Amino acid sequence: MAEQLAILPEFSGGRAHLECVDNLEYMRNIPDATMKLIATSPPYNIGKAYESRTSLDAYVSSQAQVISECVRLLHPKGSICWQVGNHITRDGEVVPLDIILYHLFKDHGLKLRNRIIWHFEHGLHSKKRFSGRYETILWFTKSDDYTFNLDPVRVPSKYPNKRHFKGPRIGQLSGNPLGKNPSDVWIIPNVKSNHIEKTIHPCQFPVELIERLVLSMTDRNDAVLDPYVGVGSSVIAAIKHDRHGYGCDTEQEYIDIAWDRVHSFRSGTLRTRPMGKPVYDPNQPNGGH
Ligand SMILES: C[S@@+](CC[C@H](N)C(=O)[O-])C[C@H]1O[C@@H](n2cnc3c(N)ncnc32)[C@H](O)[C@@H]1O
Repeated sequence: MAEQLAILPEFSGGRAHLECVDNLEYMRNIPDATMKLIATSPPYNIGKAYESRTSLDAYVSSQAQVISECVRLLHPKGSICWQVGNHITRDGEVVPLDIILYHLFKDHGLKLRNRIIWHFEHGLHSKKRFSGRYETILWFTKSDDYTFNLDPVRVPSKYPNKRHFKGPRIGQLSGNPLGKNPSDVWIIPNVKSNHIEKTIHPCQFPVELIERLVLSMTDRNDAVLDPYVGVGSSVIAAIKHDRHGYGCDTEQEYIDIAWDRVHSFRSGTLRTRPMGKPVYDPNQPNGGH
């Protein structure tokens, strides 16, 4: 990318910008404080040599460089959402990556607003420990004055018709008619072989996971960046809601698929699992759908 990326000042529909390049190089061309949301899932490049401390140190210092550049790009009212899981060493030790990376954000003065638990049902079956069925999203903001829109991401209340039974509001609905806060535990299916969004990427985001971040942490026409964009799920979530999506990946094959997905979205043929669709329940008729 030879010249600085122009960040569109006015709303003109969700723009997608994707490039096959290393993220430090990509981000170098983006102006300061322009990204309202940076949502990403880095690879766990701790490698086979993890057992040596050096490998973990190298991983943390390479993450530190990327995070530092993300902080430079972050809008004053913006959010960084770093999605990671647990790295499992060859001898079965669990390394919780969010705990290891937390201080890299704190060192820049960012504030943690939620440690979101993303729970899903599908994964490897462990024999010598409980099977892992969650990953986390560390949500940090740059300041105390940050964008947060709860209404677009409310979920149906358990008892929508519950009413006050005493006091001045007796008889009136006690809950918010738009639904309740989705909480910090999100149950969203991960993208495995039978998921409608599945591509060749081994660990892509479900679009609905990022849609919830986009809708709550940005406004229309804001810019969203994923520096490890893979097959473009974050960019799809952004443009779907009239935000501008930026992303890069070092694999050309993933960027090609990301562009295909963007074009399919624009032509109305991209299939994504709808936000709020109940998780398939084999005990219910038709899976509860
Ligand atoms: C966990 S995957 C992210 C997948 C993505 N969330 C999606 O929905 O497709 C991490 C991605 O980072 C890419 N990657 C690794 N190192 C990179 C770097 N230095 N710069 C840009 N991308 C990189 C990998 O090719 C991989 O696709």
